[in-house]
Amino acid sequence: MISLTQFKRWVTVIAASVILASACGTALAQNVKAQPDNALALRHIMQDLDKNTQAISHGIEEKDWPLVAKLAALIADHPTPPLGEKVRILTYLGTDALAFRGLDKDAQAAATAIQKAADKEDGPGVIAAFGKMQAACMACHNSYRAPFLQHFYGKQ
Ligand code: HEC
Repeated sequence: MISLTQFKRWVTVIAASVILASACGTALAQNVKAQPDNALALRHIMQDLDKNTQAISHGIEEKDWPLVAKLAALIADHPTPPLGEKVRILTYLGTDALAFRGLDKDAQAAATAIQKAADKEDGPGVIAAFGKMQAACMACHNSYRAPFLQHFYGKQ
């Protein structure tokens, strides 16, 4: 017998998976390969986000708007972990899954705004959207990074 709490948790996970699956659209096609070590694929996705974010900052200094637009599009369209890992993450997040996804959407929306501003060579617009994106990265890290490290890697 599963308890009512467990049942509710699974309903949430399934509902969130359906929402994620539809929201992600082409996500499966862009899946990142499972990593050989024990790190989550999510971590490698994050490392790419970080690399691209730093490159955008450099691109802003150089006023290289085509490069900024290209990098922002990579962030807006970042890959998602393979299905098995997605389920692990959603199961762990439970009722927080939607909030987590919401923060990711905020970061992606800001990245799209960077791209649009860069396409117009609108420097101040790029910088404003870049600030919003960094705030979204930070908001998610503040809420979830330490709990993820503890849960998935056993770090205190
Ligand atoms: C929806 C939540 C969320 C958003 C949005 C998010 N992150 Fe993360 N980030 C995480 C989590 C969770 C981890 C811990 C993952 C792990 O260690 O497996 C992490 C870890 C990281 C790390 C550390 C990677 C390592 O090697 O340990 C970097 C760097 C990073 N994120 C950069 C970014 C950048 C840049 C953005 C914005 C463009 C961003 N993140 C947006 C959730 C998020």
